[in-house]
Amino acid sequence: MAEIIYLNGQLVPRSKAKLSPFDHGFLYGYGLFETMRAYNGYIFRLDSHLTRLHCSAESIGLTHSLLTTDEGKQSLKAACVATMEANELRNARIRLTVSAGEGDMTPDPGTCSSPTILITAQNLAPLTPEKYETGFKAAVSFLRRNSQSPLSRLKSTCYMENILARTAARAAGCDEAIFLNEQGYLAEGSSTNIFLMSNGELITPCFESGVLPGITRDAVLKIARTSNIKATERWVQLNELIEAQEAFVTNSILELMPLVSVEGRPIGTGKPGKLTGDLLFSYRKLVDETLR
Ligand SMILES: Cc1ncc(COP(=O)(O)O)c(C=O)c1O
Repeated sequence: MAEIIYLNGQLVPRSKAKLSPFDHGFLYGYGLFETMRAYNGYIFRLDSHLTRLHCSAESIGLTHSLLTTDEGKQSLKAACVATMEANELRNARIRLTVSAGEGDMTPDPGTCSSPTILITAQNLAPLTPEKYETGFKAAVSFLRRNSQSPLSRLKSTCYMENILARTAARAAGCDEAIFLNEQGYLAEGSSTNIFLMSNGELITPCFESGVLPGITRDAVLKIARTSNIKATERWVQLNELIEAQEAFVTNSILELMPLVSVEGRPIGTGKPGKLTGDLLFSYRKLVDETLR
C-alpha cells in the first residue's frame, strides 16, 4: 500500500493527503493520469509519460507551471522518483494524476484555481510467467470508442467505460475487453493497445481509429522497425484480428501480453505466438539496457 503520497508539491503520509470535495477531477472526471512501471528503482519511459501528460494537459486547458514548462517537467520527474523512494520501492506501479482542481459546484473549469497534482506508488508484483504462457482471452465490448472524441486520445480520469467494459469481459471469463470504434473498426483494449501479426506483418490500429497513443505501443513499433519487421498503423477490421496468426496487447505494466482468443475463437493456434515472444524478449532487453 502507498504510505507516502505526493500532493501538490509535498510528500505527506497517506492519512494527511486530503482532496477538496469540490475538486473537478472528482465532481466531473476533469483530469488525466499516467501509469508507469519502475524496474529496480528506475521508472521506464518517464520522459515519454510526462511528455504525453504535458501535451494532453495543454489540450484540455490545464495550466500549471508543472504542466506547461520544461522546468515543471523536471520537477514532476523528480517528484515521481521521490514518491517511489519515500515508499522504499524498487519495482513499482507509479501513478501520476492531475485534475482541474478545486472549483465551483457547477461544471465550469474556469472556476478552478489551480490543478491538483497527485502521485502514488505501490509495490508491483508482475503477472506470473505462467500467465504469459497462457495469454489473455478477450471479449468484444458492447461499448464503442468514439474515434472523434478527444477522450479517445487522452488518458483521462473518465475511465468509467473502460471499467464497465473490463468488468463485463471478466464476468464472461475473459481477461481484457476490446473496443471497436463507432464505425466498427478495431480500436484498443480497456487498458491496452492491440497488435496483430498477419503474413509476417505487424499491424496495430492507427490513432485515427480512436486509440490512446500508448508508450508501450510506441516502443514495440520502434523495436519491430529496427528488427526489420514490417509494422503498419492503419484501420483494422475485427475479422483481421480473429484470423491473425498471432496477437498481443500492450501497456506499461503488462509489457506485451499474448492474446490467444477473441469471443471464444482462438487466434492462430490459440497459444502465444513466436513473434510475440520475440518482441517481448526484445522489449525486456530494452528495459534492461535502459537500466544500465
Ligand atoms: C485505454 C488505454 N489504452 C492503451 C493503454 C496503454 O498505454 P501505455 O502503453 O502508455 O501504458 C492504456 C494504459 O493504461 C489505456 O488505459
